[in-house]
Amino acid sequence: MAKQFDRKVVLITGASSGIGEATARLVAEQGALPVLAARRIDRLEAIAKELGGALAVQADVSDPEQVHHLVETTTEHYGRVDVLINNAGQGLHLPLEQVTLEDLVAITELNFYAPLVAMQAVVPIMRERGGGAIVNVSSGSSRMVLPGVGAYAATKAALNMLSLVAREEFAPDGIVVSLVYPSVTATEFHDKLRAGAMGAGGGGLTPHSSRYVAKTIVRAVLTGEAEVVIPHGPERPEEMEVPGSQI
Ligand SMILES: NC(=O)c1ccc[n+]([C@@H]2O[C@H](COP(=O)([O-])OP(=O)(O)OC[C@H]3O[C@@H](n4cnc5c(N)ncnc54)[C@H](OP(=O)(O)O)[C@@H]3O)[C@@H](O)[C@H]2O)c1
Repeated sequence: MAKQFDRKVVLITGASSGIGEATARLVAEQGALPVLAARRIDRLEAIAKELGGALAVQADVSDPEQVHHLVETTTEHYGRVDVLINNAGQGLHLPLEQVTLEDLVAITELNFYAPLVAMQAVVPIMRERGGGAIVNVSSGSSRMVLPGVGAYAATKAALNMLSLVAREEFAPDGIVVSLVYPSVTATEFHDKLRAGAMGAGGGGLTPHSSRYVAKTIVRAVLTGEAEVVIPHGPERPEEMEVPGSQI
């Protein structure tokens, strides 16, 4: 039986750790040609080597020029982008009174602007080839009222609306946009917050594994569902099953 992602070019931002890395590994197992993007090129190159020579591209996706360069490098190499996973992101876990505009701007550029710029860069390429899939990685925190996480959750809530509108706008071109909402996941995320600390926003929840979340992302690509919400732990592997899938 053919693998699910047979030679599909899957561009993943934030592929140097956590959910993005796990997604890259999972799609590679399924025959994809992953393109790994993040700032830490040494980590990307090590993962790419393990995956048998995936394309690793250093990019700070907060910078629109670097996003365009990333997509150009991908198309120069493979001639297309079949799937875009907008996964790179960072938290800002402080009470609103303590949030600085500088920090809010920084995470807005990363969590909200970057996925838009990446979609704008890949959509003409996907349209020309008759379609594609885009998954935007949001957060369960954007679907609830969590004191201490408001600034981060607001960037993800903005991404949600952008993504739902993008789904409608790109549908006529055969481009399917989905949203995945992870719950607390065991990654570097909580050690790499822009500011603040893990507290009310997830403290005490059982973290999911990044592979579990990666399976949800893969499921979203395969089913084209508009939104996939990952419930709080413990993991429920049966919820990630895709009919006819080997994943
Ligand atoms: N972990 C959780 O509990 C959780 C819950 C809900 C949603 N999420 C979301 O899941 C996504 C993945 O996070 P994670 O949990 O896997 O965290 P992670 O392990 O910290 O991974 C974040 C990734 O984003 C990359 N990144 C950060 N800033 C970047 C930039 N300016 N340009 C390019 N890449 C950048 C990082 O790579 P470099 O540092 O090498 O650039 C890294 O690969 C994020 O969007 C996050 O908001 C996470």
